[in-house]
Amino acid sequence: MKLIITFLVTAYISERCLGSRVLELSDKFSEIRKDGGQWLVKFYAPWCGHCKRLEPVWAHVAQALYRTNVRVGKVDCTRFTSLATEFGISGFPTIKFITSDNAITFHGDRNKDDIINFALRMAGPPVQEVLRPESLANLKNMNQLFFMYVGEQEGPLWVSFNNVAGQLQSHSFFYSCSKEIASAFVNFTTELPALFVHKENTHYFYPFDTNVSDPAHLNTSMYNWINEERFATFPKVTRGNINEILQTKKYIVLAVVEENKLQEIPPEMKEFKDMVESVILKNRDKYHRYFQFGWIASPELANSIAMQVLPLPYLLVLNSTTNHHHIPEEEDPFQMSPETLEIFLEKIYNQSAAVYGGNGLFVKIYRTYFETSTSLSDMWKGNPVLTSVLFGLPLMFLSLILYSICCADILDADEDEEEELLHEKKE
Ligand SMILES: *[C@@H]1O[C@H](CO)[C@@H](O)[C@H](O)[C@H]1NC(C)=O
Ligand SMILES: *[C@@H]1O[C@H](CO)[C@@H](O)[C@H](O)[C@H]1NC(C)=O
Ligand SMILES: *[C@@H]1O[C@H](CO)[C@@H](O)[C@H](O)[C@H]1NC(C)=O
Ligand SMILES: *[C@@H]1O[C@H](CO)[C@@H](O)[C@H](O)[C@H]1NC(C)=O
Ligand SMILES: *[C@@H]1O[C@H](CO)[C@@H](O)[C@H](O)[C@H]1NC(C)=O
Repeated sequence: MKLIITFLVTAYISERCLGSRVLELSDKFSEIRKDGGQWLVKFYAPWCGHCKRLEPVWAHVAQALYRTNVRVGKVDCTRFTSLATEFGISGFPTIKFITSDNAITFHGDRNKDDIINFALRMAGPPVQEVLRPESLANLKNMNQLFFMYVGEQEGPLWVSFNNVAGQLQSHSFFYSCSKEIASAFVNFTTELPALFVHKENTHYFYPFDTNVSDPAHLNTSMYNWINEERFATFPKVTRGNINEILQTKKYIVLAVVEENKLQEIPPEMKEFKDMVESVILKNRDKYHRYFQFGWIASPELANSIAMQVLPLPYLLVLNSTTNHHHIPEEEDPFQMSPETLEIFLEKIYNQSAAVYGGNGLFVKIYRTYFETSTSLSDMWKGNPVLTSVLFGLPLMFLSLILYSICCADILDADEDEEEELLHEKKE
């Protein structure tokens, strides 16, 4: 007993220490935000499971941002409903970056690094200037995806770059630097100004057409290019970021595998995942305009897209405009080779591959039915006792009510007897 109490107390203390960097906000926040300053705020409800899972992550986020200008807070929306209304909160948890006149919602995977990067992006100007070669070296070593403008800060490319950076500030890092700083790292094959994206230790240039004198066209074409390039070549796809990735308007090619709790993937699944990755690594020029590759570590997400329990490993291709999906014709995608995968992608691209799912009403209803029934059966497998209590209890009450309506007298008698027994025991 003493041991348990000691444990609880230390757990409580360590929780408090980490949590102390998080400011608990109240209705007064409406006024406080007007004083200026930058806030990263979590809107939550005490009963919500996702919020509970975010709690330790949030403590780490607050710790990491402690020395920056961004203050980290949380709002219990069940207590301060007016704040929830003011910020238009419709789901829990919601994370927002808030200044005196603006509130931007975080859309992405709720892990520590992604949340911190979101706050750091929003805390600065849309385009941050890199003034020292060492800073650029640091950026490259951080293995972070970023866009870099090189050259004089004037002209149509610069104007459009700032415009697009303003629109996508919450999603990507945008920098600028002089030719002198950049040329230590990059050989320029085109004239300056130039724009490139840095990812996975390499960089790709924006195909800048100097003939373009139409700013609207330049804005659109640059926006589209940045939108196409703003994800890693083979990212991990989760429920948090899949909607972002769908914004690329490409086909999303997903290797479906299963990770255990230690984030390990069994060897045969790893082999399949590597095979899929090798196709995009070898053929980037051919595919990256129209196909965004990635991998899914939680089969539930893939199952709910495909509306069936998929064997593992598996391959799933999503059409991001219609939300239709394609699955390989082979019984066993496990056997796929890079060659058969390429033929499959070709068929999808020339629209001769079979199409499933989509956004129709029937599909939506079926998806809801599928998700409910699988989560119920998962619940049963995971914890039969809890499931029977959850669903058995209402049934039991119903039968008790019916029973008491029919034979109230007998029930009363039983209760009396029980009470008597209790009295006897006490004596
Ligand atoms: C630029 O090209 C030269 C000659 O091809 C090469 O020696 C140098 O390492 C390259 N620099 C960078 C930063 O890639
Ligand atoms: C750009 O202009 C040059 C010279 O006027 C011309 O030769 C070239 O074909 C043009 N490129 C495009 C893509 O229009
Ligand atoms: C292109 O971006 C510039 C810079 O923000 C803006 O002034 C201009 O209106 C944009 N053009 C169009 C057509 O969106
Ligand atoms: C998705 O399907 C639509 C309709 O069949 C098609 O026009 C589009 O090219 C497909 N691909 C993507 C990536 O949206
Ligand atoms: C689509 O691509 C596949 C695979 O390359 C090919 O066999 C098929 O004939 C193509 N269909 C059309 C309509 O082009």
